[in-house]
Amino acid sequence: MDYELRKWEYSDGPDLIAAADDPRIARYLRDIFPSPYTEKDALQYITYCKNTPDNLEFCRAIVIGGHVAGSISLLFMHDVSRKNAEIGYWLATPYHGMGIMTSAVSELVKIGFEDFDMHRIYAEVYAPNLASQRVLEKNGFIREGCFREAVFKNDQYLDLYVYSLLRS
Ligand SMILES: CC(C)(COP(=O)(O)OP(=O)(O)OC[C@H]1O[C@@H](n2cnc3c(N)ncnc32)[C@H](O)[C@@H]1OP(=O)(O)O)[C@@H](O)C(=O)NCCC(=O)NCCS
Repeated sequence: MDYELRKWEYSDGPDLIAAADDPRIARYLRDIFPSPYTEKDALQYITYCKNTPDNLEFCRAIVIGGHVAGSISLLFMHDVSRKNAEIGYWLATPYHGMGIMTSAVSELVKIGFEDFDMHRIYAEVYAPNLASQRVLEKNGFIREGCFREAVFKNDQYLDLYVYSLLRS
């Protein structure tokens, strides 16, 4: 399915809420991603993206058929970690399993390495999140390690996997 990555707009609010207000998405994300996802949350996130320069966090909306259906970003690290970026993403459930995120991650990896001169792009994934692990593996990411029960999400301890891809 065709999709586009573009900068966030204030007018994306209603589409963002419709896509993001879903516990099946929130269960695999940090608690900073709210559930339920309200109008206030959407405004706060879009405002953050619009006010944050690309070289601090490269945030893009995933747009399908003219409507926001997800989000992807590269968060750039500092100091001795300054050649590292953390990739994060989610997609509305009706579009899962169509290869969209595999392709979007591939696009962002290229941007991170080529436009921002990163050396390492990494992701933190909760152990039950097999779809995300597959997306990363299809993009050549390697599972570096497991932080045992490092995550406390929805009243459960979960193992945290770190995946990374080095610039070749
Ligand atoms: C993770 C996520 C972004 C994947 O997006 P997507 O566009 O559906 O991903 P793709 O279609 O590109 O690839 C998904 C792959 O996972 C596989 N998959 C999906 N569910 C799976 C499961 N339960 N077990 C094993 N593999 C699974 C698919 O078969 C596919 O692999 P394949 O191409 O080899 O068949 C989406 O599921 C999502 O938004 N999840 C909630 C938020 C989230 O987890 N974000 C990432 C946090 S690290």
